[in-house]
Amino acid sequence: MEILDKINNLQTQIEAFLIENKEQLEQFRLKFLSQKGEIPALMDEMKNIAPENRKAFGMSVNQLKNLATNLHKEKLEAFASVVTKTQAPTDLTLPNAVDELGSMHPLTIVRNQIIAIFERMGFNQSEGPEIEDDFHNFTGLNFPENHPAREMQDTFFLEKNPDIALRTHTSSVQIRVMESKQPPMRTFSIGRVYRNEAISARAHCIFHQMEGFFIDENVSFADLKQTLYHFAKEMFGQDTQIRFRPSYFPFTEPSAEIDISCDMNNPKGCQLCGGSKNICKGTGWVEIGGSGMIDPNVLDNCGIDSKKYTGFAFGMGLERMTMLKYRIKDLRLFTENDLRFLKQFEGIEG
Ligand code: DAH
Repeated sequence: MEILDKINNLQTQIEAFLIENKEQLEQFRLKFLSQKGEIPALMDEMKNIAPENRKAFGMSVNQLKNLATNLHKEKLEAFASVVTKTQAPTDLTLPNAVDELGSMHPLTIVRNQIIAIFERMGFNQSEGPEIEDDFHNFTGLNFPENHPAREMQDTFFLEKNPDIALRTHTSSVQIRVMESKQPPMRTFSIGRVYRNEAISARAHCIFHQMEGFFIDENVSFADLKQTLYHFAKEMFGQDTQIRFRPSYFPFTEPSAEIDISCDMNNPKGCQLCGGSKNICKGTGWVEIGGSGMIDPNVLDNCGIDSKKYTGFAFGMGLERMTMLKYRIKDLRLFTENDLRFLKQFEGIEG
């Protein structure tokens, strides 16, 4: 009889327990449901119950336990939904919380460095379109009719006859500037160029070039050399050496490939390759671009008197220079957006 009273009493207590907040809910749990709570304590009484009454007793205690557990669950859910209701609803159109500042892309860093160096030498910046016509990309630059760059497999043509293509080099900006002004002119241009190439560690169908040129009376190859020598030292360190190798471009005569020394301290070493010699191939020199004296035909094509004026021009690859300067081994890293790569350029001044 006594035990029945106990069960009834506990039931009344459970039903009457005041649960208006989370703290009271926890007190409820501790009092009735926890290991040392009243319901497990009641269970322990089983051993004192006569065997024939044990089944009925067990069922009563289980009912109590279910009552308390359900009440607890119900209140827990109710409190949880109150909390969500009082929180401001999430506005999915808001921008993400910004807690980190990004860093400049390595190509942007090098681009800005190039701009600063050439501006200090009195060059101004020019621009030209990335979609070019045949004259500005090829004919004006003295490209012969059957030059391989004019083939479909080398260039992305958008239209044929008359030809419109994605520019294959920034040399097209030379023509644009020369058409619109008379010398003296000392200018450079930086931008994207396109070639129909498979993407690999060393090539991409989209890349960047910088182009510079200087036209005036009595401009000579010595001026070209000194300009590029100064640039190479500013860009890669004061011990950098440069070397010119005879070459051919339709728009310059004479033409030369520009190399810089791989080891800034020792022309035979391999510092740019990080000792691996996989960039300079053990020669101690790496190519960064092409250059030359502007062909008189090009000046004439643009209405500049080639008897009065001479000029030099050069074009260099930004990816190439960036890879050399920061010892980047794979060109694809520039476009993969991998934070482990990009974060290494945090804090580098551009
Ligand atoms: N346009 C050439 C290229 O894309 C690079 C170049 C060579 C530019 C010689 C020049 C130059 O201005 O004089 O391969």
